[in-house]
Amino acid sequence: MAQIFDRSSNALARMSLILTGLMIIALGMTLDELQRSPWVTRQGQRADQPVPFSHKHHVEGLGLQCQYCHTTVEESSYAGIPPTKTCMNCHAQIWTDAQILEPVRHSWATGESITWTRVHDLPDFVFFNHEIHVNKGIGCSSCHGRVDEMPIMYMQNSLQMEWCLNCHRNPGKNLRPTSEIYNMAWTGASELKPVWCAAQDISGGTPTAESVTCTEQNPDLGQGVQMADLSPPVNGLHAQMQAPGTQIGSQDAQPMTLPAGLHYTKFTSQAALGNFLIEHYKIRNPRELTSCEVCHR
Ligand code: HEC
Ligand code: HEC
Ligand code: HEC
Ligand code: HEC
Ligand code: HEC
Repeated sequence: MAQIFDRSSNALARMSLILTGLMIIALGMTLDELQRSPWVTRQGQRADQPVPFSHKHHVEGLGLQCQYCHTTVEESSYAGIPPTKTCMNCHAQIWTDAQILEPVRHSWATGESITWTRVHDLPDFVFFNHEIHVNKGIGCSSCHGRVDEMPIMYMQNSLQMEWCLNCHRNPGKNLRPTSEIYNMAWTGASELKPVWCAAQDISGGTPTAESVTCTEQNPDLGQGVQMADLSPPVNGLHAQMQAPGTQIGSQDAQPMTLPAGLHYTKFTSQAALGNFLIEHYKIRNPRELTSCEVCHR
């Protein structure tokens, strides 16, 4: 038989084996790519919602704060999706005949919740918590992008493990004063936009996020500096909170004066501000923050 298949056909067989092998590897790589592709992760895709709710109109246009609708983001793992009642605070009077609001009125009349399609949805085996991120100086926009500019909600980041780890390995570059959590336009400290921070020595206690006071206006320019765009340091997040139905809007927050007698440090780079906040927010080191038990419990 050997003479029927000559040497060259042997080489051919070997060649085709190698080719098959290469094709399998290529297929594997494609599948792996696919698993990370926006098509699978739904990154960037606009979900089909029962009502075309626009964050751009309601946040940027009307000046509503995130907490007006996502009421539990500071004190629970879930940010929460607002009940129909929240929409009816306004839409009982505004756009009452609009066809696109029919599902809202139907929900209100029947008591059945609106069935929003989830845009972000981690697998059940991943532990996630909004409260700790928000209270340790990670802003909404660091994870969700410029929500205030989204006519229809989409997922800005993949939410894949590598994305989480990328920040957990080096959180400093994303840390900001907790008073800036809801600031969609925050870009970090820089030469052009310095940030001044002071840590208060709370007697007996260890420094926490709430004992850090930051401002974007030079505190040396005298006492009584107006901090119209910053909230009070102590319970700062909660002080901004507005109950649905009461005064609305982020633009007209109460001006406040800086607490007296604090020693401010000027930060002209995000790296320096990040290091200061890591220390005073008591952020764990990257080794602890990337250990599997943090997210898989
Ligand atoms: C007037 C109420 C309202 C305000 C104000 C509001 N949201 Fe929303 N938000 C909603 C509703 C309703 C949904 C569900 C529909 C959707 O996904 O668009 C939602 C969805 C979201 C989602 C996606 C949820 C999911 O399914 O994964 C994110 C993220 C979000 N909002 C962030 C924000 C941020 C950040 C702000 C502030 C800049 C904000 N929202 C302000 C009502 C609001
Ligand atoms: C603070 C008052 C207020 C609340 C609360 C509010 N809306 Fe609106 N909404 C408005 C106003 C005002 C407009 C008209 C905006 C425009 O045309 O610029 C509007 C417009 C809309 C529109 C028309 C499309 C658009 O965005 O222009 C939809 C749909 C809508 N709202 C859905 C909702 C839903 C769903 C909720 C609850 C999650 C809600 N709204 C909560 C005031 C409100
Ligand atoms: C560290 C990243 C991160 C930050 C910071 C963050 N989110 Fe989220 N958010 C997520 C992830 C991840 C999910 C999906 C959670 C899940 O599937 O269990 C999510 C889900 C949501 C949802 C859907 C409902 C829910 O609770 O699951 C809303 C609404 C939301 N975020 C709003 C906000 C707002 C408002 C802020 C700022 C105050 C914020 N998020 C800050 C990562 C973040
Ligand atoms: C932009 C930065 C950033 C991103 C992105 C991020 N985290 Fe975090 N995460 C932090 C910081 C900062 C802390 C607080 C660390 C500390 O207090 O030591 C934290 C803490 C946590 C904790 C600890 C909670 C606890 O009580 O121990 C969990 C769990 C967690 N993150 C899960 C996730 C998951 C899951 C993702 C991705 C879906 C994610 N994080 C994305 C910055 C981030
Ligand atoms: C900061 C949070 C975080 C940490 C720390 C973390 N993971 Fe994950 N892990 C995730 C998220 C989020 C997913 C879901 C990814 C997705 O939806 O594709 C995931 C998914 C997984 C998966 C499923 C397969 C995959 O890649 O989607 C495995 C296996 C896994 N993690 C193992 C580990 C191991 C082992 C460690 C420790 C070395 C670890 N993880 C540490 C957040 C984390």
